[in-house]
Amino acid sequence: MSLETLPEPEIDPERSATELIRLEQVTKRFGDHTVLDRLDFSVDAGKHVTLIGPSGSGKTTILRLLMTLAKPDEGTITVAGQRLYPAPEKQVREVRKKIGMVFQQFNLFPNMSVLRNITEAPVTVLGLDRDEAEARARELLDLVGLADKCDARPTRLSGGQQQRVAIARALAMRPQVLLLDEVTSALDPELVAGVLDLLRDIARSTDITMLCVTHEMNFARDISDQVLMFDSGRVIESGTPEKIFSDPEKDRTREFLGAVL
Ligand SMILES: Nc1ncnc2c1ncn2[C@@H]1O[C@H](COP(=O)(O)OP(=O)(O)OP(=O)(O)O)[C@@H](O)[C@H]1O
Ligand SMILES: [Mg+2]
Repeated sequence: MSLETLPEPEIDPERSATELIRLEQVTKRFGDHTVLDRLDFSVDAGKHVTLIGPSGSGKTTILRLLMTLAKPDEGTITVAGQRLYPAPEKQVREVRKKIGMVFQQFNLFPNMSVLRNITEAPVTVLGLDRDEAEARARELLDLVGLADKCDARPTRLSGGQQQRVAIARALAMRPQVLLLDEVTSALDPELVAGVLDLLRDIARSTDITMLCVTHEMNFARDISDQVLMFDSGRVIESGTPEKIFSDPEKDRTREFLGAVL
């Protein structure tokens, strides 16, 4: 069957009203190393879900699949009731617009001003006119406390400031889902709190769905509706932060938390 003629997934209407992201039986291999092993999980609209688990367990890989930076070998990924994988290229581009990501290493465009970093994708991908994109960018820079840095090059900013620009850049696309991959782990310790406070604000004041990978357990406890403990390519346990951090069911979760808390 060609991708163009693939049927849309059959989605239980009751489920699709609440589910924004769904991975079903997703397998991802690098060579003969199976990183994700028939992974199933979903994230409800408006919820904040945190992925925890040991290094190398595949957390970043999940976010990269959602960003379409990598493709699964098997399984399906659905976002807001529409297939992201497998799907025809045009549909992938449409669905992909619903998703924003902030990376550990900021990944700003070094040769563009801060303002241009934020306006580039809204102009080229969403087709906003430049004035409108700039107005939106200035509002966002105000939100992240960097209104005075519009014309600066990213290399002139501190790591914390660069990460706040990266957050503004992701929000400029008005995503339904924000993916956050260890966004404070490359920062000097004194800059971490500012970025986490900004994210707490965003979590509180918007209805953006968040899927977050973090080693900041206090932050995870504060913002998460649900925590997924991830190991060997599978979700081995999930629950509220209170449950997972205070009274986990699985020995593996207890052992992991013992090492990181
Ligand atoms: N492009 C790639 N080519 C080959 N192997 C890869 C590639 N990307 C990831 N891997 C492997 O997949 C596994 C999962 O990597 P991933 O980056 O998803 O882990 P992680 O849970 O995010 O780890 P960390 O907590 O250290 O960031 C690792 O064993 C990694 O070496
Ligand atoms: Mg990672």
